[in-house]
Amino acid sequence: MDDVARIRDRIDELDQEIVRLLKNRHENAKALGRIKSQRGLDYRDPEREKIILSRIERAATSLDLDPKLIRPVFEQIFALSVQAQQDHPEKSAKRLDQARILIVGGTGGMGRFFARFASLQGAKVKIAGREINKTRTAAKEMEVEPGTILDAASSDIVILSVPTAETVRVASETASLMAAGSLLTDLSSVKTGISDRVAEKIPKGIEYMSLHPLFGPSTDHLHGQTIIAVSYRPGQKWSKLVRAFQRSGSKVVTMSAAQHDRTMAYIQGLHHFGLITLGIALDGMGGEPRTQSLRETEARIASLLDNWDNIVGIQLLNPFVPPVRQKFLELTGNLAQIRPAQASGVKKRLASNVQKWTRKL
Ligand SMILES: NC(=O)c1ccc[n+]([C@@H]2O[C@H](COP(=O)([O-])OP(=O)(O)OC[C@H]3O[C@@H](n4cnc5c(N)ncnc54)[C@H](OP(=O)(O)O)[C@@H]3O)[C@@H](O)[C@H]2O)c1
Repeated sequence: MDDVARIRDRIDELDQEIVRLLKNRHENAKALGRIKSQRGLDYRDPEREKIILSRIERAATSLDLDPKLIRPVFEQIFALSVQAQQDHPEKSAKRLDQARILIVGGTGGMGRFFARFASLQGAKVKIAGREINKTRTAAKEMEVEPGTILDAASSDIVILSVPTAETVRVASETASLMAAGSLLTDLSSVKTGISDRVAEKIPKGIEYMSLHPLFGPSTDHLHGQTIIAVSYRPGQKWSKLVRAFQRSGSKVVTMSAAQHDRTMAYIQGLHHFGLITLGIALDGMGGEPRTQSLRETEARIASLLDNWDNIVGIQLLNPFVPPVRQKFLELTGNLAQIRPAQASGVKKRLASNVQKWTRKL
């Protein structure tokens, strides 16, 4: 590829990245618009705009970019932001209109994400954790109500966001309190031996769907995200919740518990295992210098530590992970013995996998 084509390709990639970032900013502005509307605040805040502009101009100067070029770009972004705030989804805010939603494990990462989501959709949200003071603090931060597991009795929808290994126990306890016609969901990252056991234990008359959001708690919004649903007992409450997910731009993919775990054995199990192995093997490295590519891989490895209990839970509880790990070990053994004549065969196999990855789940 000549230099012009290569640079153009890079610019195309950067343009796509800019659009993704603008979309992210837009969704956050819409969420802010809804909160401002509830509190009767102005959409435009000239003081804040001045502060941001001077911060941006300083950043531009430090990168040798002319601040005069950057300023109009940001003025335009502010105008779009104000438009997005005014255009906040008042109607969509009613997608879960007045539904009483309890998030058990609402003090944790995913629990907080769904508490914020449900609240923005107009639901009356309560969160429950194990310690009341921690629960109160988290509820205050998110402007939802603190509650306890006993609130399951008066909730339309209960979302369990507790560690995978605790899901069956907490689900049985919670479901025994719930009223007929209400919906129980969990977010467990492993389904076999978990969601199928929950389905056996919960009383008849309660809807039950086991979900797996394929994103982490640092996600800003549901737009463009995928949620896997293992369907056990869908009903009216599930229809309402799934509509709220879909209208917020997420894709809900239904599959069986075994299909889910077989897929996740690669997407999570093998992926994490490979990164953990690499992270530990890198301990022979003597520090600097590093390539940009290694820094990016290191950041990915480091992020595993933020979600360590879930990652270990997937390795230990997903029954499809051990055979995939074994295959990986055999493969690394074989590849370590590779002879020059075999290199093109390995490249061919790798290239064929790379082609398949363009298919999205
Ligand atoms: N993180 C992700 O990227 C991700 C993505 C998809 C799905 N998930 C799934 O979402 C669920 C929650 O994950 P998370 O990352 O949000 O975890 P987290 O941040 O550690 O939160 C876990 C929550 O569960 C509560 N908890 C901890 N131990 C408990 C126990 N023994 N009994 C009852 N409650 C307990 C904690 O509340 P208190 O300590 O306040 O009681 C906390 O609110 C897991 O099932 C996970 O597999 C996670």
